[in-house]
Amino acid sequence: MAATILDGKALAQARRAQIQEEVARFRAETGIPPGLAVVLVGDDPASRIYVRNKERACQAVGIASEQHHLPSSTSQAQLLSLIDRLNRDPRIHGILVQLPLPPHIDERAVIEAIHPAKDVDGFHPANVARLVLNQEGLRPCTPAGILALLDHAGVPLAGTEAVVVGRSNIVGKPLAMMLLHRDATVTLCHSRTRDLAAVCRRADLVVAAVGRAELIRGDWIKPGAAVIDVGINRQPDGSLKGDVAFDEAVQVAGAITPVPGGVGPMTITMLLENTLQAARQLAAGPSEATR
Ligand code: GUN
Repeated sequence: MAATILDGKALAQARRAQIQEEVARFRAETGIPPGLAVVLVGDDPASRIYVRNKERACQAVGIASEQHHLPSSTSQAQLLSLIDRLNRDPRIHGILVQLPLPPHIDERAVIEAIHPAKDVDGFHPANVARLVLNQEGLRPCTPAGILALLDHAGVPLAGTEAVVVGRSNIVGKPLAMMLLHRDATVTLCHSRTRDLAAVCRRADLVVAAVGRAELIRGDWIKPGAAVIDVGINRQPDGSLKGDVAFDEAVQVAGAITPVPGGVGPMTITMLLENTLQAARQLAAGPSEATR
C-alpha cells in the first residue's frame, strides 16, 4: 500500500488562518501589529526566493514585515549596526538574517548580535541552550514545522527509533534534540556515518536534511516508517528533487512528505508563529524569555 502523503501546504494554510486571527487580536490589544525584519545580504538567487516567500506570508496574515536588502559589499560593521538598530526598534519583534552570508561576514557574530527575544530563527546560543535544556524559548522553524506535521498526522514519537540524516545547526541538530524531548531514541547521522542504509532501515522515522538529491533510497526504508524530506535540490532542468527517492520510498513508507509542498510551507508558517510568540513576549515586558 502506498504511503499517506503528509501535505505541508494544506496544514500550513490551516495554521496560517489561525495565525491571522491571533495577529488581529494582538493588534487590537496593543495597537501595533507584530513586526518582522528580514535582512538579506547579497544576491543569492535561492535566498532571494526564500525571503520573498517569507515577506508574502507575513503580508497574508497581517504581520508587518520590512525587508532590508543590502549589497554583497556590505561590511560586517554595517550589518551589525543595522541589527543594533532593529534590536532597539519597538515596532520590530522578530529579526531574521537570511543565511548563508557572504564569506567576509562572520555568521556567528551576526547571530550573536540579534537579541535572543527577537531571534525568530532560534539560532542564538541563548535559544540553543533553552532548547537543549527543554526550557521555553524560540525554536528553529524547520524542526518545529516537522514536529507540527508529524503531530498533525498522529505519527507516534515516544519510544520510537528516529534517524536524522544531516547535522546542520539549522535542521539536524535542533531536530534531534526536539525528538529526544519527545522521548524518541534518536540517531544523528552525517557524511562519516558507516552504512547509512543499515541505520535508516531500522528507523520508524527517517528525516533527510543533507541537500543531496535522492540520497535516501526506497530500500533503506522500513515498511510503514514515516519519512520527512527536508531537501530542496534544484536540478539542471529547473525541477526540484528532495533528499529522498520519492517514487521508491512512497511504495514502502507509512507516511511521507512531498517536495515541494511538504516541509517548506511549514517552515515559513513556524516563522510566523515565532514572530507572534516573540511579539507577545515582548509586549508582556521583561520575562524569563527576554532576560
Ligand atoms: N537559510 C536556510 N534556511 C534558513 C533559515 O531557516 N533561516 C535563515 N535565517 N536562513 C536560512
